[in-house]
Amino acid sequence: MIRVGLGHDTHRLGPGNGLVLGGVTIPHQQMALGHSDADVLLHAITDALLGAAGLGDIGELFPDTDPANKGRDSAEMLRAALERVTDAGWQIVNLDCVIFAQRPKILPHRTAIRNRIAELLAIDVARVWIKAKTGEMVGPIGEEQAIAAECVVLIERE
Ligand code: CDP
Ligand code: ZN
Repeated sequence: MIRVGLGHDTHRLGPGNGLVLGGVTIPHQQMALGHSDADVLLHAITDALLGAAGLGDIGELFPDTDPANKGRDSAEMLRAALERVTDAGWQIVNLDCVIFAQRPKILPHRTAIRNRIAELLAIDVARVWIKAKTGEMVGPIGEEQAIAAECVVLIERE
């Protein structure tokens, strides 16, 4: 049996000293703002996995109304979601992600981000792909007010 899942996340940008994307800090004069560490990519991947397995969503597992989730490490949330998914007998076939950011250029950091995601998910890096698109300088992405990410994941079970 196979299942597909889709995840999406958006965070506001503000002055700062780096973007955390897929658990990797990318030098930038802005940072993503949010209740947790605001890693849009890991949040999108977490939701894609949970959705594929039909096991809830990130806000359900880690409500932003709970002070315990303030500043929570997104890698930790991803691991918790992965555990639920694998406990249900699922294995990841592959995932493909898009980061929506006007700046900075993500391409130079792609290998580092893919490696980190593969490590977090305990899968071969060949199963992980990421890419980025600008907002063509229009809208909240293009005007650098926000960053977003999407992920699609395929999972399988005997
Ligand atoms: O060319 P097109 O309008 O389709 O896309 P774009 O948003 O201008 O992005 C062109 C290319 O730049 C992408 O395909 C990525 O390879 C790269 N890119 C990036 O590395 N980092 C970003 N934040 C945005 C785009
Ligand atoms: Zn988020």
